[in-house]
Amino acid sequence: MSMLIKTLLIGFCLLHSVSCFAQDNYQKLGKKADGLSQQAQWNLTILPSGDNLPKGGGTAVQGAKLFAVKCAGCHGPEGIGASAEPLVGEVGSLTSDYPEKTVNSYWRNPTTLFDYIRRAMPTNAPFSLTHDEIYALCAYIFNKDDIFLNNVELNQETLPKVTMPNHSGFVAIYPSQNQQNIKDQP
Ligand code: HEC
Repeated sequence: MSMLIKTLLIGFCLLHSVSCFAQDNYQKLGKKADGLSQQAQWNLTILPSGDNLPKGGGTAVQGAKLFAVKCAGCHGPEGIGASAEPLVGEVGSLTSDYPEKTVNSYWRNPTTLFDYIRRAMPTNAPFSLTHDEIYALCAYIFNKDDIFLNNVELNQETLPKVTMPNHSGFVAIYPSQNQQNIKDQP
């Protein structure tokens, strides 16, 4: 057998085994997206009006304890200054020379925070928090910038009424379109 053919054969065998290895590995990843429970996890969008918010409630005082255990490792003990996004502070900075987008300085609707935490946080255990815990965490994050009181319960009724500092800072990209569209966006 010529050297060239030998080299080609060895190359082919190597490639083949790598691709088999890769296929086997990928087959073990993920789950089929056909379960009803998974659809239920996706159909959870909460609107700015508060529609779809679940029952439950919590205070900033309760949220502080949870945050220290479940969030501070990535977001910092005070919600800022660690490897993950800063969540609090910098309110009013958007028009300064050093704008910083945190939840409290930038986000438009308070209800988005509940929706986001429920779906995605903590990153290593999404959907692991109870509704009471999520309300408490939202209350804690808002309270860090005095957007919500310390000892009042944040719940289905009170969460949509929280006014975010940058609520009026968003502009319509297409002002001629019905402004109602913007009001309805999460
Ligand atoms: C293991 C690390 C980790 C933990 C623990 C964690 N987070 Fe996060 N968090 C992240 C990362 C990374 C991002 C940025 C994700 C992205 O931009 O896609 C993030 C983003 C966020 C955001 C959106 C911030 C923004 O401005 O976009 C919120 C809100 C949030 N986390 C809340 C929480 C809360 C509340 C907890 C505790 C229950 C928590 N996180 C726990 C890593 C973590």
